[in-house]
Amino acid sequence: MVLEDKIAIVTGAGAGLGRCMALELAREGADVAIWDVHGDSATDTQIEVEKLGRRALAMAVDVADGDAVQASVEKVIADWGRIDILINNAGICQKEAIEAISEDQWDRIMAVNLKGTFLCSRAVMPIMKLQREGRIINMGSVSGKIGGIAAGAHYAASKAGVMCFTKSLARELAPFSVTANGIAPGVVETDMTRDLSCGEWEDYLDGIPLNRIGEAKDVARVAVFLASPDAAYLTGEIIDVNGGQFMD
Ligand SMILES: NC(=O)c1ccc[n+]([C@@H]2O[C@H](COP(=O)([O-])OP(=O)(O)OC[C@H]3O[C@@H](n4cnc5c(N)ncnc54)[C@H](O)[C@@H]3O)[C@@H](O)[C@H]2O)c1
Repeated sequence: MVLEDKIAIVTGAGAGLGRCMALELAREGADVAIWDVHGDSATDTQIEVEKLGRRALAMAVDVADGDAVQASVEKVIADWGRIDILINNAGICQKEAIEAISEDQWDRIMAVNLKGTFLCSRAVMPIMKLQREGRIINMGSVSGKIGGIAAGAHYAASKAGVMCFTKSLARELAPFSVTANGIAPGVVETDMTRDLSCGEWEDYLDGIPLNRIGEAKDVARVAVFLASPDAAYLTGEIIDVNGGQFMD
């Protein structure tokens, strides 16, 4: 187990990639604070993590709410004493033509995907700097590199922001031996992509050299690697997990 007794926070961990990452971290020995805007789904993940023999803390947190984020980080520190890993995974997506995007839709996507990543990172930075140890892992997207194909322009722009923010984080945290990296998934089967694709995957497969849609575990194992001692000398990197759909 490469994460024995590490303390992790995973945002948006009530479903999809976040739940899978919470479970993989727990399998590797971490205790996990499970944040989700839907408290019930966070509790479901908590039960699964506890079945793996690790401690879990389900918390209803909207990552776009700075006060809630700050209070929730303080609760994790009060209960467990430290924070070793933050995975900024919570995200929302819409498929919308640019001319159809309302200001409210633009603002909410930015608030959850980009501002949420900033707020959660800012809140854990003091403890990670004090520990002189910590890992921040941000969820980007292939659409943040090439523009939205399935997703809207507001989503793609928010993910480009997340990936650039990751590099600024990496620069500021490096003097404290804290790393910040990102993952840019392609198409991975979750509720989010089932909504976007309406279950029609054939259109996507044409552009994926490995000729399959990603599974949540494909992403989760890369997150485990980034959180592990093997990734100690890696910072400011964005790892594509996309079956070869986009290579840069
Ligand atoms: N699935 C993919 O193909 C794919 C591809 C690229 C990037 N991503 C990114 O990976 C992350 C996870 O995606 P997913 O496919 O698992 O999505 P999902 O919709 O299946 O799950 C997202 C989770 O985040 C939670 N959430 C939403 N808004 C929140 C908020 N304000 N505060 C806290 N939690 C909130 C939801 O309740 C849900 O549990 C997202 O950031 C997404 O943009 C996914």
